[in-house]
Amino acid sequence: MERCKTGIPGFDELCDGGLVRDRSYLVSGPSGSGKTIFAMQFLYNGAVQFDEPGIFIATEERPQNIRENFSVFGWDIEKLEDENMLAIIDATSAKIGLPSDERYVDVRPFDVRSLVDNIINIQDEIGALRAGLDSTTAMGFAIGDPGRFRVELLKISTTLEVLGLTTIMTAEVIESGMISRFGVENFVTEGTIMLYYMRSENVRIRSLEIYKMRGTNHSKKIHPYDITSEGIIVHSREEMF
Ligand SMILES: Nc1ncnc2c1ncn2[C@@H]1O[C@H](COP(=O)(O)OP(=O)(O)OP(=O)(O)O)[C@@H](O)[C@H]1O
Ligand SMILES: [Mg+2]
Repeated sequence: MERCKTGIPGFDELCDGGLVRDRSYLVSGPSGSGKTIFAMQFLYNGAVQFDEPGIFIATEERPQNIRENFSVFGWDIEKLEDENMLAIIDATSAKIGLPSDERYVDVRPFDVRSLVDNIINIQDEIGALRAGLDSTTAMGFAIGDPGRFRVELLKISTTLEVLGLTTIMTAEVIESGMISRFGVENFVTEGTIMLYYMRSENVRIRSLEIYKMRGTNHSKKIHPYDITSEGIIVHSREEMF
């Protein structure tokens, strides 16, 4: 099976060289754990290191904030957009009733069909190989019913797979022991990566676990990671106890 390297230092060696290509993965964790960074780092590395264009679907942050936040890591998001190596879909503004002058806007943000159409059009334009959907939780709240949410997510993840995209979807958790907010997100993806952000005395420690990954061998351990000035770095040789 062909691999899609995340390029996130220390991560690919935890899963036999990278994600299995053309599949969808869930990155799940509490607020501030690094889910958005994980998804964007996957796309940024794809564009810069592997010459693979990507699509980022932003449902909770306006694209302008995303560009600014990631410039801190020295990532020139706008340059990648100008080069058609990255497309950001603004699925946030319409939802909160704000106008948007973005190139790609999802004007019917609660409608999965319109999102999928948008992705298909962008795909024609830039021939993306990677996608990031940040976050599924916002969509879950909009849809409300967990059963319907599960079907809609399955629609999205399957469409992305058919379009030849390897995708990171993010999901929020609010209490430890939870895998995802609605308890359905992990069933429609081929793999689940859990980010932990646990308090130990007077510090918080970040760690990561590949909870499930179909079709490949992977580490079953919990590994520490850091968010540095260059993004996420996973300490693949270290384990948490
Ligand atoms: N330059 C940096 N150096 C170190 N840590 C940073 C840097 N920039 C951001 N961080 C850390 O990353 C965190 C944000 O990560 P991110 O936005 O990916 O979290 P998230 O899991 O998406 O959260 P949410 O669920 O609230 O969207 C910050 O709270 C901060 O701790
Ligand atoms: Mg986030």
